[in-house]
Amino acid sequence: MGKTGKIIRGAVFASGNGSNAENILRHAEKYPGLQILLILTDQPYAGVIERAKKFATACEVVPRKGGMDKVAHEAAIMDVLRKNKVDWIFLAGYMRILSPEFLREFRDETLGVNRVVNIHPSLLPAFPGADSYLQAFNAGVKIAGVTLHFVDEGVDTGPIILQRAFEREEEEEFEAFRARGMQLEYEIYAEFLQRLINDEVALANIPGSDKKIVRLGGEGTKEKWAQR
Ligand code: GRF
Repeated sequence: MGKTGKIIRGAVFASGNGSNAENILRHAEKYPGLQILLILTDQPYAGVIERAKKFATACEVVPRKGGMDKVAHEAAIMDVLRKNKVDWIFLAGYMRILSPEFLREFRDETLGVNRVVNIHPSLLPAFPGADSYLQAFNAGVKIAGVTLHFVDEGVDTGPIILQRAFEREEEEEFEAFRARGMQLEYEIYAEFLQRLINDEVALANIPGSDKKIVRLGGEGTKEKWAQR
C-alpha cells in the first residue's frame, strides 16, 4: 500500500521485447500499492508475452487487424482497460501513438496531466520519435540519456518526470551504448513508480513557459495527491 492507502491499478503497454515491462512487474511484486492488472500488446508475437507469463500476469493481445481503424482499435483496448478498472497506463516500448480522445479518458484534473507515462530513449526534447538511441549515436552525441515523461497529445512532448544521462565512450559500439541506456531506463521507471506509490508526484507551471515541471517528493505533493 502507498502511504495514503491508495492502490494504483496499472496496465503496461508494450509492442516488443518487454524488458521495461518486466522491470515494472518486478517492481510491482514488491509493493502492494502498485497492482499491474495486465500487460497489453498490439503484437501477437511480442517477447513481452512470455515475460508476462513468467510473472503470472494477464497479457491481453489486441492486434490492429487488417481493415481495423485506429478508433476501433483503441475502443477494443479501452474495453479491456475498463473491464480491469485500470487507472494508470505505463508505456514501455509501445509503438503506437495514442489519440487525444483516448488520452482524455485518463485525464487527471488534480495532477493536470493524463495518467499515461512513457519511457523514451533520449534526453528529450532531443531525438523524439523512433530509433532514438540510433539517432543520438549517429549524431555523435557525447552525452546521451533517457527520459520518463507524461504523455500528452504531441509525440514525446509531455511533461518530463525524470531524466538520466550517460557519457558516450568514444570507442564503444552501438549495442553497448544502447545497453547502458536501457539500464538507466529501468532505474528511472522504478524510481518514478516508487514516488507514485508514495503519493509524491505533483506538477507546477514554469513561469514564462507553457510547459510544466514535475515535482517528485517536493513540498505539498502528498497533499495535492490526497485531494483526489
Ligand atoms: C526502450 O528503449 C524504450 O525506451 C523504447 O522502446 C524500447 C523498448 O524496449 N520506447 P523493451 O521492449 O522494454 O525491452
